[in-house]
Amino acid sequence: MSGKIDVNSQYSYRLLHPMHTVIVSCMGKAGKPNATTLAWAMPTSNDPPMVAISVSPKRLSHTLIEESQEFIVNVPTLELLQATYACGSFSGRSFDKFKKAGLTPIPAKKVRAPAIKECVAHLECTVDRQFTTGDHTVFVGKILAAYANMGVFTERYNLESARLLYHAGGNNFAVLDLKIYKP
Ligand SMILES: Cc1cc2nc3c(=O)[nH]c(=O)nc-3n(C[C@H](O)[C@H](O)[C@H](O)COP(=O)(O)O)c2cc1C
Repeated sequence: MSGKIDVNSQYSYRLLHPMHTVIVSCMGKAGKPNATTLAWAMPTSNDPPMVAISVSPKRLSHTLIEESQEFIVNVPTLELLQATYACGSFSGRSFDKFKKAGLTPIPAKKVRAPAIKECVAHLECTVDRQFTTGDHTVFVGKILAAYANMGVFTERYNLESARLLYHAGGNNFAVLDLKIYKP
């Protein structure tokens, strides 16, 4: 079959998926931590190291990040498929998501919010700026601390020990095949 088909604007963003998926932890003034799944996250600067996340104002996490001006990007793997989906399906307004998803908060190095023990990598950020793009807010974070599980990362991920999760849309996730291709 040849030719191109138009994609409904509602699904156009999915032409960029599967997207690498993360769980962002944050904590507001009340001191209660929350964890939310995001597929819309990307590095934006090397020097200084910065990362952007796109969060709907409907999310509790949006309120908590605005209040605290900080967040942690935690990287889950295939073992955390259920937990990743749970953190993206329930709101911290109704549930303690760490409990609900079976995740363990651990003290962070530079920010007040806890990191997520079961994730393999963590980027602690302070909000450098934020701006509205349509129905989401982009929070650009300056990375204050970055660390990963031993054996999982040395300059790049060891993809055999870290089966990173990619969101295809809805409740569909993918992992990478384990071949490395060099141009
Ligand atoms: C795989 C996946 C990816 C998601 N990506 C985003 C995202 O990039 N931005 C966003 O605002 N919400 C995203 N969501 C939805 C939120 O994670 C979801 O609404 C969550 O329940 C919000 O929780 P909170 O109210 O505790 O912050 C995603 C959900 C899933 C399952």
